[in-house]
Amino acid sequence: MAALAYPVESRHPGWPARLGPLRVPAGVVAVRPVRLRDAGEWSRIRLRDQNHLEQWEPTGVGPWPDRNALWSWPSQWAALRGLARRGQCLPFTITVDGKFAGQITVGNVIRAALRSAWIGYWVSSELVRGGVATAAVALVTDHAFDSAGLHRLEATVRPENNASLKVLTKAGYRQEGLFERYLDVAGAWRDHLCFAVTKEETGDGLVARLLGSGRADLA
Ligand SMILES: CC(C)(COP(=O)(O)OP(=O)(O)OC[C@H]1O[C@@H](n2cnc3c(N)ncnc32)[C@H](O)[C@@H]1OP(=O)(O)O)[C@@H](O)C(=O)NCCC(=O)NCCS
Repeated sequence: MAALAYPVESRHPGWPARLGPLRVPAGVVAVRPVRLRDAGEWSRIRLRDQNHLEQWEPTGVGPWPDRNALWSWPSQWAALRGLARRGQCLPFTITVDGKFAGQITVGNVIRAALRSAWIGYWVSSELVRGGVATAAVALVTDHAFDSAGLHRLEATVRPENNASLKVLTKAGYRQEGLFERYLDVAGAWRDHLCFAVTKEETGDGLVARLLGSGRADLA
């Protein structure tokens, strides 16, 4: 067979992937693709954490207990997996000490001359304030730039969400502006601050910066 003249580009660069581990105060953080068998922990934590999560997440169709029931994960997982296979999304589970701890997703991946996407995340209420989200954002951002071929990541956050604002600032994102009445969250159109980072701002990487600041160690 004749050799191919050009390398075949992956339709989904950077997917699938396992990232980390990094040690932070909450435990050992790693990131891996979402799995069908995440259903049990995903549902248990999200049903328990309605008050912790609902006020920050896009409004969904139907009541929280239905949207987060065990039986609603397979269709969400299949949709995420389909998007990942088409190169439009990198949907990861965050683990702490090997156990399901939340999700981090790179979504709406646009390629060509833009090479941009958004990043979103949540962490179980039992594990917050221990550096988990910051470590996951650093791992996934470096991966998006180094392996998934992206150039820019954006995160939009409600101005009241102090924890998430802190995560983005610690990880190395910078504030760009305010999107007014941007997203339907918890039943109303909410203003969001836009944070972003581009590849050339990250230097040796956000993980290297986190390690250098003493906020995380290699596990
Ligand atoms: C936002 C969220 C992901 C943070 O996860 P986390 O693992 O606790 O994040 P980290 O520990 O890496 O960093 C959180 C920082 O915010 C601080 N913080 C937490 N709650 C805070 C609050 N109410 N006010 C001010 N700071 C707060 C923490 O002390 C920590 O800072 P520190 O490391 O300097 O002490 C988590 O709280 C969550 O899942 N929230 C609900 C969903 C959500 O908001 N998702 C993001 C939408 S944009």
